[in-house]
Amino acid sequence: MNLLVTGGAGFIGSHFVLRHVEAFPKDRLVVLDKLTYAADKKFLSPVLQSITFVEGDIADMTLVKTLVSDHAIDTIVDFAAETHVDRSIADPFPFLQTNVLGVASLIEACKANPSVRFLHVSTDEVYGDLKDDDAPKRIEDPLRPSSPYAASKASGDLLIEAAERTYGIKAAISRCTNNFGPHQAGEKFIPTVIRCAMHDQPIPIYAEGKNKRDWLYVTDHCDALEMILKTPNAFDACKIFNVSADSEKENIDVARAILKILGKPESLFAFVKDRPGHDWRYALDSSQTRALGWKPNISFEEGLSKTISWYGQRFVG
Ligand SMILES: NC(=O)c1ccc[n+]([C@@H]2O[C@H](COP(=O)([O-])OP(=O)(O)OC[C@H]3O[C@@H](n4cnc5c(N)ncnc54)[C@H](O)[C@@H]3O)[C@@H](O)[C@H]2O)c1
Repeated sequence: MNLLVTGGAGFIGSHFVLRHVEAFPKDRLVVLDKLTYAADKKFLSPVLQSITFVEGDIADMTLVKTLVSDHAIDTIVDFAAETHVDRSIADPFPFLQTNVLGVASLIEACKANPSVRFLHVSTDEVYGDLKDDDAPKRIEDPLRPSSPYAASKASGDLLIEAAERTYGIKAAISRCTNNFGPHQAGEKFIPTVIRCAMHDQPIPIYAEGKNKRDWLYVTDHCDALEMILKTPNAFDACKIFNVSADSEKENIDVARAILKILGKPESLFAFVKDRPGHDWRYALDSSQTRALGWKPNISFEEGLSKTISWYGQRFVG
């Protein structure tokens, strides 16, 4: 394959690139990344000689079209996004620019090159939140996003579905739950808890910490994306794939697990005013994706140990 990987210097994208280059050394990869605060090009150091790295914006339609034609791209895997809900509440416009107009630009490149397959990485947040006794969200469920971030991602998804129907582009959308692991921007929940705990600083927890998230180790997510790329007909009729490890936990329990591993006291918890519109719970029914042969391999406990050990070196070093 000749892949264009957007957002490949960010959290999930960097794992995808590192693993893909190792597993498929004959494939050619072009990584397009704007290098925002969430990116670190150093994550890609082990493979920089084997890939083409381009600093740029997915919303730059001319650049995207040129990359697709110059490198004979046959597959786009799209991780590029603004991703932090709190930032989207403070200022939604960068989210609209990248998560909506950026996606529209990638669609234009697919329209100009109809054989290109477009795998767009989306999120469980597009479905909105659940009550404690609701069944996990299925791909048939309506989109009910609650935050500007989730609304921008839902808009990107809808644009892609419309482009498949109207222009016949070859697209697939994956929607996954909260990822965790090395390389995540330091301001996200798990890195924040680890950093504060390591430095004996107050650990901010929204409200009482009872909101539930469904945690997926980042490499298990990458495996699911690789499986989608290999699935026959995955790019017909804009198929949607839910990806979840069925590992729901209250935020406070995630923070407690981190404190336990680091041997730090719960007196570090600092309960702060809740996030406006804070989603209560996310859960996904990923049975259709699992029926294709994917399953998570890393338990929450194993993934958390790996994550803490990676941040341990980063935050101390
Ligand atoms: N992290 C999660 O828990 C999670 C959960 C569900 C879905 N997702 C989705 O997975 C994808 C990747 O998430 P992540 O956590 O790795 O994000 P991230 O914020 O860590 O990385 C995003 C990357 O995209 C790049 N980028 C941002 N705007 C760009 C633009 N206009 N042009 C080119 N590059 C740009 C950034 O520089 C960065 O490298 C996103 O689409 C996100 O919505 C993430």
